[in-house]
Amino acid sequence: MMTDKIAEIRSRIESAARSIASSDDLERFRLEFLSRKGLIAALYDDLRTVAAEQKPAAGQAINQVKRLAEGTVESLTARFSQEKRSAGPSIDRTLPGRMVRRGTRHPITQTIEQMKAIFVSMGFGIEYGPEIEDDYHNFEALNFAPNHPARDMQDTFFIADDVVLRTHTTPVQVRLLERRTPPIRVIMPGRVYRNEAISARSNYFFHQVDGVYVDRHVTFAELKGTLITFARSFYGSGIKYRFRPSYFPFTEPSLEMDITCFLCSGKGCRICKHTGWLEVLGAGMVHPNVLRKSGHDPEQVSGFAFGMGVDRISLLRYGVDDIRTFFENDVRFLNQF
Ligand code: DAH
Repeated sequence: MMTDKIAEIRSRIESAARSIASSDDLERFRLEFLSRKGLIAALYDDLRTVAAEQKPAAGQAINQVKRLAEGTVESLTARFSQEKRSAGPSIDRTLPGRMVRRGTRHPITQTIEQMKAIFVSMGFGIEYGPEIEDDYHNFEALNFAPNHPARDMQDTFFIADDVVLRTHTTPVQVRLLERRTPPIRVIMPGRVYRNEAISARSNYFFHQVDGVYVDRHVTFAELKGTLITFARSFYGSGIKYRFRPSYFPFTEPSLEMDITCFLCSGKGCRICKHTGWLEVLGAGMVHPNVLRKSGHDPEQVSGFAFGMGVDRISLLRYGVDDIRTFFENDVRFLNQF
């Protein structure tokens, strides 16, 4: 009787073991046969009813069945945990995904890109020059006489006696004229440096876009036409403009261009100091001394040049009230553009 029961449990173990396909199945198997209330524990209970002389044999038979069940649990536990490891870390598909942060172009870069696009459409190329410049290109070749007070127009950071952080992008013009033959028609964007007190309105570095056109018979009328075309395209076709005579050592004659304040449409506000006008650039006909120093004959060629600041204009166009925020690189600020 007992022998039959043991044999029956053994065959149930064997067939149950064959159908274990997961660690859940294995746990059910363990509970069914090996737990304290399982079938094998029940066999040990039944042992009490067995006649004394058959007890040792029956006990051994139950031990064997128990080892069979335990062996099954051991080997399958090992197999399942290995399969789990080789499947890699478990993935929780319900977790929210990681946001991919999208960058934006810096507002100063955006302004420069817009300026570039307009001048490129008018046939200008784009050139860059060094930010560490020699005194010759930054001043002398641009007709600033040595010790001439005009140098005081720009507070210069000196690196050595003859080496400066460029105070404007105009020296790139000289470098270009030195190595090219006309026609030359390029704009020159870049960063410039001046030793100025830092405030909401001014910084010790900022950005400019210079332009130059040198060829035979370049006229003042072409300068005005180019500037007006640029201003209408960049500030809007509805703006009004005016030219005022001015002075730069490297141009003669020189002018400054104002446009109607785009914040108050010329009615007068705090930004335009209640004049209704904003000064947006300086320009003029390239001075004969500048042409001569860079290897061109002012009797043969003429040219015009212009230069404008980028930062203040960006400030006004984007309604930013402190120029320093452009360079703090706080993504919460930069992401708004
Ligand atoms: N370099 C001048 C400045 O920094 C701006 C400028 C004026 C550039 C007239 C020019 C120019 O090329 O023709 O204030």
